[in-house]
Amino acid sequence: MDYKKIIADLVKIDGVSKEEIYASISVPPRRENGEFCLPCFKFSKSLRMSPVAIADKLKSELVLPPEIQSAESVAGYLNFKLNRAVLAENGLRAVAEKGDVFANKPSNGKTVCIDYSSVNIAKPFHIGHLLTTALGGSLYRIFNYLGYKAVGINHLGDWGTQFGKLVSAYKRWGNDADIEKRGVTALMELYVKFHSEADSEPALEEEGRRYFKLIEDGDEETVRIFERFKELTLKEVQKIYDRLGITFDSYAGESFYNDKMQPVIAELEDKGLLIESDGAKVVDLSDFDMPPCLILKKDGATLYATRDLAAAQYRHDTYDFYKCLYVVAYQQNLHFKQVFKVLEKMGKSWAADCIHVPFGMVSLEGGEALSTRKGKVVLLRDVLSTAVEKAEKIIREKNPELEDKAAVAEMVGVGAIVFSALSTSRIKDMVFSYDKALSFEGETAPYLQYTHARCASILSKGNYKCGELGNMDWNVLSDDESADVITLLNRYDDVVLDAAEKYEPCLIARYLLDLAQSFNRFYIDHRVISDDKKATAARLLLTACVKSTLKNGLSLLLINAPEKM
Ligand code: ARG
Repeated sequence: MDYKKIIADLVKIDGVSKEEIYASISVPPRRENGEFCLPCFKFSKSLRMSPVAIADKLKSELVLPPEIQSAESVAGYLNFKLNRAVLAENGLRAVAEKGDVFANKPSNGKTVCIDYSSVNIAKPFHIGHLLTTALGGSLYRIFNYLGYKAVGINHLGDWGTQFGKLVSAYKRWGNDADIEKRGVTALMELYVKFHSEADSEPALEEEGRRYFKLIEDGDEETVRIFERFKELTLKEVQKIYDRLGITFDSYAGESFYNDKMQPVIAELEDKGLLIESDGAKVVDLSDFDMPPCLILKKDGATLYATRDLAAAQYRHDTYDFYKCLYVVAYQQNLHFKQVFKVLEKMGKSWAADCIHVPFGMVSLEGGEALSTRKGKVVLLRDVLSTAVEKAEKIIREKNPELEDKAAVAEMVGVGAIVFSALSTSRIKDMVFSYDKALSFEGETAPYLQYTHARCASILSKGNYKCGELGNMDWNVLSDDESADVITLLNRYDDVVLDAAEKYEPCLIARYLLDLAQSFNRFYIDHRVISDDKKATAARLLLTACVKSTLKNGLSLLLINAPEKM
């Protein structure tokens, strides 16, 4: 129910459009002034009347619909109080109709490609990958909910001379049993060893290049070794994706574009955009205050940007996307600006639909700096396990009787990590602390999950069944606390839309915290289950609506909500 629209339809001001009135309606800072207000100052000039006179006049002309209880003219504002029984009925009916699992909106026929997580083969999946994975996975669910078709793309980093080096290290020192057992960690160590040995044996570099050439030329044995490294890496990250509830529709990574770059290079050539620079081929971007975009190296090798140009073209041709999002750290700001600018110079009208969604750095409180070269990293797997262990300990203390502690601890521990990644504006650097993330009282996932479980327990105590709403006494929910909760419930879809438009799942996180806090205030002030049957029925319904909204909102943030904890 859009109350602003009801008010905008109601108020008529000469020479002012409905849209303009709609946009002017705001929320009064003091609740005793009502739920909405229309400040009349901005109409003063054109109407040649004082704001007070305008508000008085508007009030005298109003014929109030059932949704609105009263309108008052106060010091140049027209203040509206909603009819709270109607607010409760409309609001709760709408949520109850959505059921326990909110269905996705009907398809709008638009596709949004989301490039996220995009792991590098034979590199450890560390805490630095948390944000791209969580943000992308959340945006994937958000866009699907809103009726888009989201296409999740894991643009694998599976190309480059480093893989020749890795094969060379494997041939010299590799041990299959060890690799089988320790996976990427073993590969990583081989890679580190290669670099330390190459310091004293420069011929190694040449050998690495030779092996990469063999991969490029499709040499059977070398390709087979490399493919195995790929499988091993993907098998490991898949375990994390499963824990986070993340899926991809495509794993077309850098190597996928090997045979798709030539047409793009030819097109750049045809359009006169490729110029020579020290033997390399580049696109000049000096008009846009950017360094040139490197397309081909001196030796004819392609680059990361060349692959991204081919990938963008491929995605356009394959998915006909409405938007193509790249959820990648802000360190790559320049890279994407260059790639998008080159697409624009090529005359691709859809270049403007390619959007870099950058984010800041994550580090662990008291943790050491992350460095892949030295092989010292904080693995995401370890972070999740630590959080789950800690969660289990807390749960054991708080609720020793709880069944299925391990399953609940998994939801709480993993949820705590994901929520801390998603609950601040994405561009901010974040220092992550286990204790803060796992607190049951702070602005955390466990707090939301706990509120959800509290709702579940109230509903089960009250024997709640979602039934006929015809006999409900909506007046029971006219108090301030209930009205606050219902007003928030009413905003859910707007918030999700806003999160999608700004690519900011944190707006949903903030909203869920507000909703949980508001419900907990209601819960302190009002007995849900009492001898008053009518009050009990209405308050149980409100509780059920909060529960389903928390659960569905959390799921947009990749977080599960346990029934008990
Ligand atoms: N694998 C890259 C990295 O770890 C991220 C790839 C992002 N996607 C893209 N299309 N460039 O830095």
